[in-house]
Amino acid sequence: MAQRRADLRAKLTPIFPAPRGIVWEIGCGHGHFLERYAAEFPQRLCVGVDLASERITRALRKSERGMLLNCHFIRAEAVEFLRALPEGVTLDEIWVLFPDPWPKKRHHKNRILQPAFFEALAAYAPTEARLYFRTDSTDYFKAVQGFLPALKTWKTTEIGEPWPLEHETVFQARAESYQSLILVRTSHPATPAKIIAPEVPPPADSK
Ligand SMILES: C[S@@+](CC[C@H](N)C(=O)[O-])C[C@H]1O[C@@H](n2cnc3c(N)ncnc32)[C@H](O)[C@@H]1O
Repeated sequence: MAQRRADLRAKLTPIFPAPRGIVWEIGCGHGHFLERYAAEFPQRLCVGVDLASERITRALRKSERGMLLNCHFIRAEAVEFLRALPEGVTLDEIWVLFPDPWPKKRHHKNRILQPAFFEALAAYAPTEARLYFRTDSTDYFKAVQGFLPALKTWKTTEIGEPWPLEHETVFQARAESYQSLILVRTSHPATPAKIIAPEVPPPADSK
């Protein structure tokens, strides 16, 4: 675990030579969405993480072909990525598109979007940061809507706020329908990052 974190830190250091805000995609898969995002917004530094090495390899191939210097893909678990973030790096936008739904009730605890995870994110997200969430699991969507009112650090944005970019992901193309939500970081102080320790979920293939 300590070695893995040190390796991750070593990968992150050259990407963030100085403190700055980033656009972060959790579970980026083959990188379709983030690659397009980085091309549309060349001034933004984009980082995608995914647990699956083979997906990251394909994502990296794409961003190299597109010569996108502002787009990075890293094989990492989302919570571990947060823990390895260099001081001063903030999450200006967070994208969670079609996260693993963990449909069985006894597995809901493995979903990435949980109150403790939002609390952890809040420590790295400045006021007005956005989190974009999209899923084809009605159950997952309702669960997030259900615990949101109890969160002090995140709230939903005004209805109708546009997404900065619409670009179909692999799972979106397969979905019959989906629901979307934009959350905004409030000015409520976050619990200091070091105290928060959300559980690192198991890989989705243990479903
Ligand atoms: C259902 S796929 C969606 C991929 C892509 N976002 C899309 O819409 O096509 C979910 C992805 O999240 C990744 N993933 C699941 N849990 C993760 C975690 N804790 N940290 C990073 N990636 C994760 C999986 O490996 C998988 O590639």
